[in-house]
Amino acid sequence: MKDPQPALLLPGTSLQKACRLLVLFCALHLSVTLVYYLVGSERGIFWFFADMQQFPGGAQRNATLPPAPRGDASRVDGGSEVLGKGSEVPWLPENTDRATLNAQPTPEDQGVPALATAPQTDCPGMPPQLVGPLLIEFSKPVNLEEDRKANPDVLEGGHFTPKNCRALQKVALIIPFRNREEHLKYWLHYLHPILQRQQLDYGVYVINQDGDATFNRAKLLNVGYVEALKEYDYDCFVFSDVDLIPMDDRNIYKCYDQPRHLSVSMDKFGFRLPYTQFFGGVSALSKAQYQRINGLPNNYWGWGGEDDDIYNRIVSRGMGISRPDAITGKCRMIRHERDRKNDPNPQRFDRIAHTRETMNSDGINSLSYKVVKIDKFPLYTRISVDIGLPGR
Ligand SMILES: *[C@@H]1O[C@H](CO)[C@@H](O)[C@H](O)[C@H]1NC(C)=O
Repeated sequence: MKDPQPALLLPGTSLQKACRLLVLFCALHLSVTLVYYLVGSERGIFWFFADMQQFPGGAQRNATLPPAPRGDASRVDGGSEVLGKGSEVPWLPENTDRATLNAQPTPEDQGVPALATAPQTDCPGMPPQLVGPLLIEFSKPVNLEEDRKANPDVLEGGHFTPKNCRALQKVALIIPFRNREEHLKYWLHYLHPILQRQQLDYGVYVINQDGDATFNRAKLLNVGYVEALKEYDYDCFVFSDVDLIPMDDRNIYKCYDQPRHLSVSMDKFGFRLPYTQFFGGVSALSKAQYQRINGLPNNYWGWGGEDDDIYNRIVSRGMGISRPDAITGKCRMIRHERDRKNDPNPQRFDRIAHTRETMNSDGINSLSYKVVKIDKFPLYTRISVDIGLPGR
């Protein structure tokens, strides 16, 4: 019989074949390694190049994104953390709730509605209807008419007040906005039921940047603060991006004894903080905290940095950041392309390096804008505003 593999019998040919195989194997190995390397450090490489190209020499936070050090605020141990201050007890007994926790159980605690005529008792620190983890998805389209019917207790303009108890805080939810109708629908669809279960006395304000100038998130938030206060005596302001939805209703959208960062565990960042000082996405400041930092900066035009400036303001005024734990603080971001007129702001690294010098003259005390239109929709108030142009 003829040998099917004559090469085995001929040392020259078999050596050649073996070599070829070896080369092939090496090439394969190399490409697999390369792929793993690129995937594994995608963000690192991105930020590295971003930093090199635009901001040479900068020891910037975003240039040194992950890995987050062990034991920082992105930990998953259920603790709540205050940066810059001593650590705080877990989210349940935080300051604003302590009095309530020590108080006698109220009828609402046991699920018994109070009589309409009875003097109202404070809502409990731990709202009884919370369910914990939530399923959040963006595949089915949202119909706002259905959502209006599903939330009959939400009044025109997007206001709600708990019926059976007195809310612990009056919260204005402020959303900087332009051309994101689809995202806003999801936000309203998911947030209204959550906020009602959280027993907040709240109102939803969508601050729409009128015109075509570069987007300015923080200035819109300042406008939201001022305009909301014209309507109601709010004592807490939650500033939320329109595309961020909490995945756990125990992440209460209210204020704490330190400025609160709520979106600590975003899917976009692999459910962890991108860096310890990160204050972007969703944050909450009481009226007193907001005033103490002279509000938010007005001169961050375009994407990025304004949240770092706010962080700097907070720390330079002797406050710290309070956060929920990484489980409670999970949230989803609706995927999208970068918006038009919101390119990365090339001045942002320079600006955040000078917050301390600029914050006294740039903020709520220097805010100027013109309201173009106020619309009261069933689930939200929409304020269109002319905030001017960069460089003013
Ligand atoms: C850094 O990245 C975070 C997350 O995307 C962003 O919120 C922040 O504004 C960025 N800061 C700067 C200075 O680019």
